[in-house]
Amino acid sequence: MKRIFQSILYIVFVFVSFWAIIKAILAYENPFSLYENPLVWTLIAFLGLVVLAKEYFSVTMQKIAEELKMEKEGIVPEEVDEWAWAKKLLKRWTKSREIGEEEEIILDHNYDGIKELDNVLPPWWVYLFYATIVFGVVYLIRFHIAGGDTPEMEYEKAMAKAKYEMEQYKKKTPNTFDVESVALLTESADLQRGKAVFNLNCASCHVRDGGGGIGPNLTDEYWILGGGFKNVFKTIYTGGRDGKGMVAWKGVLKPQDIQKVASYVISLGGTTPAKPKKPQGEIWTGEEE
Ligand code: HEC
Repeated sequence: MKRIFQSILYIVFVFVSFWAIIKAILAYENPFSLYENPLVWTLIAFLGLVVLAKEYFSVTMQKIAEELKMEKEGIVPEEVDEWAWAKKLLKRWTKSREIGEEEEIILDHNYDGIKELDNVLPPWWVYLFYATIVFGVVYLIRFHIAGGDTPEMEYEKAMAKAKYEMEQYKKKTPNTFDVESVALLTESADLQRGKAVFNLNCASCHVRDGGGGIGPNLTDEYWILGGGFKNVFKTIYTGGRDGKGMVAWKGVLKPQDIQKVASYVISLGGTTPAKPKKPQGEIWTGEEE
């Protein structure tokens, strides 16, 4: 009776400590940092010590009992085996039978000469099994009853956090270029820069006055890939249709320069080039953005 009580107490202690460690690990951001959370390591070390001490105590008690028994029966203990404690520990955790004792647990059945031993489940396995049950209960409560975060929710939270951080970063560094919110420029300095970029990179195909050559006329209201600043910017940034000759300029020109040259292209609208190429595409009726 006393033994059972002790065993239960011990198992409860181990599980409660285990639970506390898991809780601590879940609650802290860096649970294994000795500097930030020395308590976690203290608890783990303490739990390990108690388990070790308990095993050591049991093994020694068993040894003493055996020695007493041998003394009583008048048997002189043979040379002391240095590893006796380890063997005993192994035996305690596996409950294996000596080969000589197998007669006791052999089953009556005889399958064509093959016989079976009725071994008990080894304690290491049984305790592991209990641990999985406890884990299962904890898991069930945490994720299905208390509503802990599922991987999906964790993912969404992480994405929301990243988005927030990105916004904060953009606010702090207003010079970074955002392709999504790029807008038409009308300052003459910007258009001058756009013109310079155009003459250098685009005139070979679109001609200096935008009248068109290899590339389409940029001064008329007909557009293949959509008119308006947003579309023009996008075409220059990501290029025209495959194989047509209009490459993506995003890796070649700075985004700021693409914004300026796109603004310049828009400013060419309605001008009269010397030799206008005949219209290509559709009349763009979308709003000028
Ligand atoms: C190698 C020749 C070539 C060069 C250089 C070139 N383009 Fe083009 N561009 C084209 C062709 C060809 C098209 C038609 C693409 C298509 O049909 O998909 C085009 C289409 C465009 C369009 C869309 C026209 C429409 O009707 O939708 C714009 C805007 C444009 N180019 C601007 C520029 C700018 C600005 C530059 C310089 C940064 C440039 N292009 C350099 C050949 C060129």
